[in-house]
Amino acid sequence: MCGIIGYTGKKEATDILIDALELLEYRGYDSAGIALSDEAGGEPRLLKRAGRVKDLRELCAESDVSGKCGIGHTRWATHGGVCDENAHPHRFGRVTIIHNGIIENYRELIEKYGLEHKLCSQTDSEIVAAVLNRFYEKDPYAAIRKTVLKLKGTFALAIMFDDIPGKIFAVRNVSPIVAASTEDGAILSSDVAAIAPFTSQYFVVPEFHVVCLSEDGIEMFDLSGDKARIDWLTVDWDVSRSDKGGYPFYMEKEIMEQPQVIQDTVMPRIKDGRPDFSAEGIPDSILSECKRICVIACGTAMHAGLVGKSLIQAMIGIHVDVVMASEFMYNDPVVDKETLVIAISQSGETIDTLEALKFARKCGSPSISIVNVKGASIARASEYVIYTCAGPEIAVASTKAYTTQLAVLYLLTARMAVARGLWDDGKLSAYMEELVRVPKVMEEVLARKDEIHHIADTMLNARDVFMIGRGLDYSILLEGSLKLKEVSYIHSEAYASGELKHGTIALITEETPVIAVVTQDKLKSKELSNIKEVQSRGAKVILLIKGEERLEQEKIWNRIFRLPVMADEFMVMPASIVLQLIAYYVSADKGLDVDKPRNLAKVVTVE
Ligand code: G6P
Repeated sequence: MCGIIGYTGKKEATDILIDALELLEYRGYDSAGIALSDEAGGEPRLLKRAGRVKDLRELCAESDVSGKCGIGHTRWATHGGVCDENAHPHRFGRVTIIHNGIIENYRELIEKYGLEHKLCSQTDSEIVAAVLNRFYEKDPYAAIRKTVLKLKGTFALAIMFDDIPGKIFAVRNVSPIVAASTEDGAILSSDVAAIAPFTSQYFVVPEFHVVCLSEDGIEMFDLSGDKARIDWLTVDWDVSRSDKGGYPFYMEKEIMEQPQVIQDTVMPRIKDGRPDFSAEGIPDSILSECKRICVIACGTAMHAGLVGKSLIQAMIGIHVDVVMASEFMYNDPVVDKETLVIAISQSGETIDTLEALKFARKCGSPSISIVNVKGASIARASEYVIYTCAGPEIAVASTKAYTTQLAVLYLLTARMAVARGLWDDGKLSAYMEELVRVPKVMEEVLARKDEIHHIADTMLNARDVFMIGRGLDYSILLEGSLKLKEVSYIHSEAYASGELKHGTIALITEETPVIAVVTQDKLKSKELSNIKEVQSRGAKVILLIKGEERLEQEKIWNRIFRLPVMADEFMVMPASIVLQLIAYYVSADKGLDVDKPRNLAKVVTVE
């Protein structure tokens, strides 16, 4: 959480920083700020305020600031409320910093260094500037080393010293920092997306290494002061994909991109009609020898894991647990060398997922991560990584990252079947043909977006929505329901339709829209009976059903959307698009900020 940017070079920094902060706003949008200095050095100019980056942009325009070296921050509040004082950057003495992460021992440090009445904010971050200032005696590296050794917690820090003009220092533990040289200087950020417009070569700053950015480029040292080697990576996404491409919101654009990104994720991993992970170096033994699978993930990524569980259990016949990464450590996890751990994460930085993965590796578990952002912490912490090719996902509500995670899980399931010799050629080719057909089927659904918009209209004034289904349909709805609540603020619950009558049906009234998904042939008659139970209580039911088959009493349905037909296990793909679009249209038509729902952040780097 919290977006970080730093630039130093020959260009004017203000717009570079503000434009980058706008791209980084998905990391948090409680407040934003920049610090700028010029060639002469001295105290940098600080501009910060509670609110969005656009408010900061106005403040900068009014203030007529300039400078060629600066740092900027967009905040998701943890310690200290949302107000101007708690916005970053923070200054103490000769030091200015921005911070992402949590300094767990900040209270101890306040006491230890007698800072109780000397700080201006209620944050855990300002203390870092104070400790750096205390240790700073001409040698920035020594001050950083001494400070870092005092800190407990997670941090990505960008630092400016008043008497070192034109230079930005940075150091991190867990929270990410990437850096790059540009044509005329150097840049760093919490995210590749913010530096991609400047260069295609970048690197991930390793933990407990200090980088120094100047007009002449970048140097990196380890904490003992030895120069460290930089491992360069190449940005592999098209920068033009980071803009809205004519859509009013990123969420709509990202929903519409799904056929393409599924294709990009799937096609390079099919060789001679068979799933292939040789480019990732994944040996078949890891897929054939495990006795159990444990998926760890959060939010939408966890919902992708639930679909993966249904697939793998049904098609491979081994037990799969899907564990919320935030709960993993607190439930005495039983993982061992026979348990394949699959960590799923769009950002690759979710700290709960990262910590759970590290724990599982210590227990000897083999691991594969499914990550969207190249070089992210989770990718580096796992034994093998499969990158989803979703490109930059900017809207806080995840859409295309989810379906590309599903695409990878379909491929992994098939490879596992091959590795274990479970399927004959006929079964494998039917499955792979269906997977290859997904983008086309998604396009068919997207072409009917007006029809879906009409369905969304019926929910605009709802206070509560229920979504019901069984088996795989229930997993699909967990994600559909999360989408609706996060972007529309309508309370929504996905419920296993058979479980509804054990209590929750008491909440169903004529005012409660119910979305029912029926895509699994073997469950259809039971699901339709469960739907009748809610209709009898007056609920208006919107039905998403596979195929064209006529239903009894078609008039009793509030709306019916007929999904294009795929094999049952693939129906999650077309159904998910409908649910994503429903959530999107409800939010947009309510006039909400679809891409930045209140209280949320896209990258969650605090536990
Ligand atoms: C946040 C985001 C969700 C996301 C979850 C996990 O809560 O708002 O959209 O699903 O984190 O993020 P990850 O990057 O690990 O997939």
